[in-house]
Amino acid sequence: ESGKLWGGRFVGAVDPIMEKFNASITYDRQLWEVDIQGSKAYSRGLEKAGLLTMAEMDQILHGLDKVAEEWAQGTFKLNPNDEDIHTANERRLKELIGETAGKLHTGRSRNDQVVTDLRLWMRQTCSTLSNLLWELIRTMVDRAEAECDVLFPGYTHLQRAQPIRWSHWILSHAVALTRDSERLLEVRKRIDVLPLGSGAIAGNPLGVDRELLRAELSFRAITLNSMDATSERDFVAEFLFWASLCMTHLSRMAEDLILYGTKEFSFVQLSDAYSTGSSLMPQKKNPDSLELIRSKAGRVFGRCAGLLMTLKGLPSTYNKDLQEDKEAVFEVSDTMTAVLQVATGVISTLQIHRENMGQALSPDMLATDLAYYLVRKGMPFRQAHEASGKAVFMAETKEVALNQLSLQELQTISPLFLSDVNRVWDYRHSVEQYGALGGTARSSIDWQICQVRALLRAQ
Ligand code: ARG
Repeated sequence: ESGKLWGGRFVGAVDPIMEKFNASITYDRQLWEVDIQGSKAYSRGLEKAGLLTMAEMDQILHGLDKVAEEWAQGTFKLNPNDEDIHTANERRLKELIGETAGKLHTGRSRNDQVVTDLRLWMRQTCSTLSNLLWELIRTMVDRAEAECDVLFPGYTHLQRAQPIRWSHWILSHAVALTRDSERLLEVRKRIDVLPLGSGAIAGNPLGVDRELLRAELSFRAITLNSMDATSERDFVAEFLFWASLCMTHLSRMAEDLILYGTKEFSFVQLSDAYSTGSSLMPQKKNPDSLELIRSKAGRVFGRCAGLLMTLKGLPSTYNKDLQEDKEAVFEVSDTMTAVLQVATGVISTLQIHRENMGQALSPDMLATDLAYYLVRKGMPFRQAHEASGKAVFMAETKEVALNQLSLQELQTISPLFLSDVNRVWDYRHSVEQYGALGGTARSSIDWQICQVRALLRAQ
């Protein structure tokens, strides 16, 4: 006996290099718990179908519990012959309960087994990641609420654009993350479909009730087609894309904070807990946490692209190429878990320098408001834009700040300028004008916080 699940038709031995090349146990051992969960459900299905006696089922269930216990206690001993987690668990079950173990795989294939395991594992992981994501969002919203009165420059093209509330910036990133959260829920919905009972390709010929299996494992639905079920990895691709987009958002936020943390900006200061020093330059405090968040995005994108390339051009149904899906899922899950926790830590401990933020505002950032001033006096916006542009040019030529132009000087541009133009130069007055929902006025920020909190409560 070769000790292989598939040894019957083989005479020759497998090359040790091939043995190692083929094995997935080094990483799919992570699936031990869901593999046993799936097997327990399947043995109940077999009993209901009359393929196991009640006594045989009990024997298998107890045996599987024993195997699980060994994994949980770290006493499970792998054999060199254990190709993957499915092989390992079944081999051990046989050692524990004898030949009855051989009945467990009746009508089942590792093709439907492995994809059931992976879906069970990912369903759990999605819940964990969702909680971590919401924790980050909550941390951000708390900050946005607490620091609502802080103003600082908003940038487009990295050029000074308009004064905004610091909270507006925080919420801009938090809102992106709420979409990731929603998206994860959607992905989870499509993960939550049971393939067990599909066999290797053709289905199950022994009358196993898949509806019973679904209920046993609390899946939302059962897969429709056994050929599709054993070979599609859409749910893996979707999960990896979800992670890619989430990382895009996080790396973008990280980049902003790295910039705002430079001496040149000095808007924020990273806590020591999330920084590191230089082995050469004693003065350095580097934002390594944020840089790593930024870089992990590349790793995640790579896994997503890699899986799509593995899937592309595969012939119908199961091919061993599909074994590669798991490392991608495990690595990306670990990365996302770490990144979300670090991001939460960074945000919750970040110090802001309110004064620097306020001092970084300059009157030229109010040129748009100057145009709106004229609009409120009845001037068409295109003309008002032109007039404000002229004022900017005049100030630049005279080498004074925009708000240093006298009323007389402004009136040479338009007679609509009156002494109340002074109000334009007040930054708080400026942000308060942007009261339409979504804008930077206090009322709108409050509304945004309220909306995101409602999403948080709905969790
Ligand atoms: N370890 C395999 C995987 O991860 C299990 C399925 C093997 N199926 C097969 N027909 N060889 O995909």
